[in-house]
Amino acid sequence: MQSIDPATLEPRAAYRLLASIVVPRPIAWVGSVSLNGMVNLAPFSFYNLVAGDPPTVMVSVGRRGTQPKDTLRNVQDVPGFTLSVVDETLAAAMNQTSADVGPDIDEFTLAGLTRAPSELVAAPFVAEAAVALEARVVQLVPVPDASYTMVLGRIVRVHLRPEIVHARDGLVDATRLRPLARLGGDDYAGLGTVFALRRPAG
Ligand SMILES: Cc1cc2nc3c(=O)[nH]c(=O)nc-3n(C[C@H](O)[C@H](O)[C@H](O)COP(=O)(O)O)c2cc1C
Repeated sequence: MQSIDPATLEPRAAYRLLASIVVPRPIAWVGSVSLNGMVNLAPFSFYNLVAGDPPTVMVSVGRRGTQPKDTLRNVQDVPGFTLSVVDETLAAAMNQTSADVGPDIDEFTLAGLTRAPSELVAAPFVAEAAVALEARVVQLVPVPDASYTMVLGRIVRVHLRPEIVHARDGLVDATRLRPLARLGGDDYAGLGTVFALRRPAG
């Protein structure tokens, strides 16, 4: 077995290695809005559900050089954002919205996407997405010694297209949603085999 001290690697090499290990990662397509009302959309795979009650997600946003990315600046200034689920049909559009463009560029327009208005936050979500969430910022947590800030957001609305919801239990059917996952390098994955496991009793 190869054993590596990540501290001996170039920071970028360490990041690339770990990002190929912690897989598959879900992708949050974050809609946010600036103080002057400029809309922003960008994908983030340092993302997960971190509490069930109250429902809370985490998105970790890095800096671009010394400056915060537009998403971080926006959620600091206007603490409501959206998370649209990227499915396989939206992969190319999602990738376009990761372009390093200035805060004056609206990535919805850039990628040919439609803005759907939110109910509770100022930021819109992606109308083409089958699932989208509205969140309010509850805390910004700087990652020690890193250029990342974890944004903790409480989910205040869930938008679902009825055709991806299971009639039997109201849960989202992942095989119909077909979410896109992030792997290492430039790789992505679709959903593989889906199977159920009952939790052990006791
Ligand atoms: C699939 C994917 C996942 C990404 N995940 C992250 C992430 O977790 N954190 C991050 O800071 N940047 C991530 N990026 C890069 C940002 O999307 C990119 O820097 C974007 O331009 C930020 O936009 P903004 O300045 O409008 O916020 C990711 C890019 C892609 C394509």
